[in-house]
Amino acid sequence: MSTFYLTTPIYYVNALPHIGHIFTTTVGDTLARYLRMAGQEVYFLTGTDEHGQNIERAARNEGIEPIALADRVVAKYRELRDRLGFSYDDFVRTTQERHKRGVYEIIRRIEAAGDFYTAVHEGWYCPPCETFYTEKELGPEKTCPVHGTPVEWKSEENVFFKLSKYQQPLLDLYREHPEFVRPETRLNEVRAFVEAGLRDLSVSRANLEWGIPFPAKPGQTVYVWLDALTNYISALGFGSDDTRLYDRFWEHGDVRLHLIGKDILRFHAVYWPAFLMSAGLPLPTVVWAHGWWQRDGRKVSKSAGNIVRPDELIDRFGADSVRYFLLREMVFGQDANFSDEAFVDRYNSDFANGLGNLLSRLVTLSRSAFDGRTPPHACSDNELAPAAKQAAEDYRAAMENLAFNRALESLWRLIGETDQYIHRREPWKMLKAEGPTPALARILWNGMEVVRIVSTALLPVMPRMAPQVLAAIGVPEPATNFDALRWGGLPTDVEIPALAPLFPRIDKAAYLGEAKEKKKMEETTPPAAAAETPRITVDQFFQAELKVATIVAAEPVPKSKKLMKLTADLGEGAPRTIVAGIALAYQPEDLVGKQVVVVANLQPATLMGVESNGMVLAASLDGKPILLHPDAQVPNGTRVK
Ligand code: MSP
Repeated sequence: MSTFYLTTPIYYVNALPHIGHIFTTTVGDTLARYLRMAGQEVYFLTGTDEHGQNIERAARNEGIEPIALADRVVAKYRELRDRLGFSYDDFVRTTQERHKRGVYEIIRRIEAAGDFYTAVHEGWYCPPCETFYTEKELGPEKTCPVHGTPVEWKSEENVFFKLSKYQQPLLDLYREHPEFVRPETRLNEVRAFVEAGLRDLSVSRANLEWGIPFPAKPGQTVYVWLDALTNYISALGFGSDDTRLYDRFWEHGDVRLHLIGKDILRFHAVYWPAFLMSAGLPLPTVVWAHGWWQRDGRKVSKSAGNIVRPDELIDRFGADSVRYFLLREMVFGQDANFSDEAFVDRYNSDFANGLGNLLSRLVTLSRSAFDGRTPPHACSDNELAPAAKQAAEDYRAAMENLAFNRALESLWRLIGETDQYIHRREPWKMLKAEGPTPALARILWNGMEVVRIVSTALLPVMPRMAPQVLAAIGVPEPATNFDALRWGGLPTDVEIPALAPLFPRIDKAAYLGEAKEKKKMEETTPPAAAAETPRITVDQFFQAELKVATIVAAEPVPKSKKLMKLTADLGEGAPRTIVAGIALAYQPEDLVGKQVVVVANLQPATLMGVESNGMVLAASLDGKPILLHPDAQVPNGTRVK
């Protein structure tokens, strides 16, 4: 068994995590889970970077101690670990003693190699980067090339690391191990930077209290990047008495992979290997850089003011959908754009319509044909088996290249093929015409077998939902390795529970805000679009629960021209509140006492501050609603079908 050490960057604690931070850990977690299933011995590390001027300033602004700020942000990271199901083996904090020991040990080794000297350091300094820049590197009006904020002139005596000495060894490393930096384009950037010439690096700071004191240099603290980068080995016990993990995963490990964002490439692919070379320690085997999540064309960041908070998305869509979206929508290595609309569309198309719909069709049919059980006949000779084999191979090849979007695409291609397979055979008609025949059993079994294979492959991406899908098709124990991707594993003739809706459709209009959605629909929906609407099955139609209700009260929603708040009796005991966009066409007194048809199982949605629990059906004539009424009075709650 080979060992695989996998790290995320350690996150600054001057602000709460946003989607960009969660992304790297999601990638790491998915990869860690994948590798464990692929039979590797994995150690997965994440943590927080707690020293430095930024954190000191942020804490001071709040009037608290830096450690109190760090504790608060760490608590948030822990909470998100629980919400998102992150399975890291350790969480390192640079304020821990074990980490300090590692930093002291690497400094001792670099010192012993004769690679430190003391000199006056002058230059343009960006506090958020904790980095000096040359005049040439600065943006217009002396601004930081990364942050665009003004830089400060600094002059102080510092300890310097002889980075220039490692220029040639680094170039040799990139030549001999081009896989050291991935993707390849990033290696070119790094090589160009090193070829342009490396200046020695100041690795201590004067007048900065919130840091690790530099050994034997009173008044100086360790430069935050030397401090931070060392987390990757201090967390394994480097510098302590117990170096078992360090020996296994670093010193003698097979793969040592750092996942990072492209903004911190130079630190990981230039400074870090140079420190390690100087200290006589093994280097990481791969530094893999991803791009940025952007919103409205700018990197998602606190300073740009376009932050997306993970909690809001998790609350609405569920943690696994957030994980899925992040992996599906970004080509790993490139930038990607975040939008709420893309999120809802992806969720509805891939889950509500895609996997969720296929699952519910198959489970419903199998349960009704085979007495609440999976089909009694398996099948190996059919067109889906080779398609599933291909999809599993594509998935694995893509996952090993961190091409998560392609891995997921190949699974959803298979779902599409299976949809068509089922559609062509119309098993619901077979059931009606011939009853539960072996032929019907095989068709349904094939479809469910695909669902089993897809959900098994989804285990690393959706660690909570994938097991639920598996349980729904009679596989209560999810597989722990990828042998389960082979065709043939779905148990025949076992009991399956009635399906709880796992991926309820999200009402996009309600989510995005009614007005915004309406405007968009007007702009983009041509009048003839109805002709192209795909046919649905009777099962799909019956997913909507239509019922007759009597309107017992009606009043306009304050501050809204169109919305009316209705109180409707669906024969359920307590009446429901339903908000309908009919206020321009109807007066409250026209409505009270009338019977209407209501979609009763719609997700609740809040419109102008009023929670609506259902939708009233109306014909829409040039945008004007015309309510539908039953032809004769019927009891409230009567099903419409
Ligand atoms: N503390 C340093 C890393 C030290 S590693 C030894 C740091 N921290 S950070 O909190 O600013 O960023 C951590 C990671 O989050 C980086 O990899 C960064 O690229 C990533 N992201 C921050 N914003 C991001 C996006 N908008 N999109 C994707 N990832 C981004 O840098």
